[in-house]
Formats: sequence, structure tokens, C-alpha cells
Amino acid sequence: MKQSKIILMTAVFAIGFLFSANAQDWVVPAKDKAVKNPIKEDLKEAKTIYMQHCKACHGSKGLGDGPKAKSMKGNLGDFSSAAFHKQTDGELFYKTKNGRADMPNFKKLSDEEIWLSVHYMRSLKQ
Ligand code: HEC
Repeated sequence: MKQSKIILMTAVFAIGFLFSANAQDWVVPAKDKAVKNPIKEDLKEAKTIYMQHCKACHGSKGLGDGPKAKSMKGNLGDFSSAAFHKQTDGELFYKTKNGRADMPNFKKLSDEEIWLSVHYMRSLKQ
């Protein structure tokens, strides 16, 4: 009896821990995650979109240091980091299109423009 109580308590703690770790994560549905960038890379056009719509918060190099960054809640991410680029094209597209909390959604942009901004974020990898 005693042993099963210990197992139960361990399980409760483990689940609690997993839940708190995941609360920070921005989970993208599997079908969105799997989508590949269908748009040809055009960095000139992509840069124009990024500078106009993203730079104010994310900064010109995507370091999360734009002029509006300080007043933002949440993790702006670091678009130069390897960890950021482990994400799929579909994840970057989904996050950009839908936004979350202080990150605005970009439903005013066409899907093509959002895919171009994904190309631009890819070009910021160090
Ligand atoms: C008004 C400020 C603001 C603007 C403008 C903005 N973002 Fe964000 N962005 C945020 C914030 C805040 C977060 C963190 C949101 C969270 O974690 O809840 C974020 C998060 C992200 C993420 C997820 C980062 C990660 O590490 O996974 C991506 C991708 C992203 N933004 C792309 C863009 C793109 C592309 C644009 C322009 C089309 C853009 N953002 C414009 C504020 C902004």
C-alpha cells in the first residue's frame, strides 16, 4: 500500500512538472507544422515586409531588440539562434499568421507575404 502511494505521488509531481514546462511552449497543430514553404525565396521583397511589419518588435536582425520590444510580454525569440531554426517552416508561418498574446496576428498579410517573412527569418540564422 505504502509503495503505491509513493508511485502515485511521484506520478502527480511528474505530470505537474511536465505541465508547467509546457505552459511556456507555443504548440502548433501537427498539420500546420508539416507544411513546407511553397513560395520561392525573394529576399528583397521579404526584407521589405519584415522591416515594415516585424522590425519594431523583433529588431532588424531578429534578436528581439526592436524599439517596441521592452514593452512586450512573452518571449520574442532570437531569430539568429539554432534553437529558433529547429522549428519547421510551418511553425514559423503559423505563429506569424495567428499571433499570441502581445504578438499580433498577421491575417492582414497574404499567405504569400507571410511565407516571404518566413524566408526572411531563415536568412537571419547565424
Ligand atoms: C507588436 C510587437 C510584435 C510585432 C510587430 C511582431 N511580433 Fe512576433 N512576437 C512578438 C511577441 C511579444 C512574441 C512572443 C509571443 C508569445 O510567446 O506569446 C512574438 C513571437 C514571434 C514568433 C515566435 C518566436 C519563437 O521563438 O518561436 C515568431 C515566429 C514571430 N513572432 C514572427 C513575427 C513576424 C514574422 C512578424 C512580422 C510579420 C512579427 N513577429 C511581428 C511581438 C511582435
